Amino acid sequence: MINVALPKGRLGDKAYAVLERAGYPCPAMKEDNRKLTFENPEIGVRYFLVRPSDVAVYVERGAADIGIAGKDILLEYRPDVYELLDLRMGKCRMCVAGPKDFRDDRSSTLRVATKFPNIARTYYSACSREIELIHLNGSIELAPLVGLSDVIVDIVETGKTLIENGLAPLEEIVPISARLIANKSSYKFKADALRTLRANVEGVLNS
Ligand code: PRP
Repeated sequence: MINVALPKGRLGDKAYAVLERAGYPCPAMKEDNRKLTFENPEIGVRYFLVRPSDVAVYVERGAADIGIAGKDILLEYRPDVYELLDLRMGKCRMCVAGPKDFRDDRSSTLRVATKFPNIARTYYSACSREIELIHLNGSIELAPLVGLSDVIVDIVETGKTLIENGLAPLEEIVPISARLIANKSSYKFKADALRTLRANVEGVLNS
C-alpha cells in the first residue's frame, strides 16, 4: 500500500488529477463527503487529505509515504524528507512586499510581518539587515496598512491581494512550486513502488 498525503484544496485537486493520470486512481475521491481518507485496494493506494502546511509532517513521520508540499513549507520547516520532483504547479513567489513607495534606508530596525519566520530571518541575515520579526498566521497584507510592520514576507501568486491593498512586491526571495516529497525510510523499503510512481508522475508532467 502506498499512502499519499494530499493538500486539501485547489493544489490537491490538481495533484490528484496528475496522480490519477499516472495510474493511481481512487474513485472514492470523487464522492462528495467529508471523509479524510480514500482507498483503492485494487492498486494499493490510499490518499489522506491534509492541511497544506501539515503534509510534510505526515511524510516526515512516515504516516504517509509520499506527499505534495509547497516549496515554501519545505524551506520554512526543513522537514527531513526527500524531494523527488518539481510538479511545476502551485507556482508563486516568496517576496518582500510593502507600500509601493517604500525604500529601506536602513536607519532603523526593519519590522517584518510574516507567516514564514525562518525564510524571512534567513533572507535578511544574508542581507546583513537587522529586523524585528512579527509572526502572524494570515492576512499578512494588513500589517503594513495599519502600521504593525514596515514590510511583509509573503507568497505572491497573482499579485491581486497586494494591489487591492495598495502594496507592491519589493524584492523576490525565491520562486515557489509544489514538490513531490517522500519519507526517507519508505523510499528505501518501498523503493520499487515509489520509484515507479515518481517516474509515472514525471511521464504525465512531460506529456
Ligand atoms: C496567500 C498569501 C497572500 C495571497 C496571495 O494567502 O499569503 O495573502 O495568498 O495571493 P495573490 O497574489 O493571488 O493575491 P492565503 O490565501 O493563503 O490566506 P492567508 O491570508 O490566510 O494567508
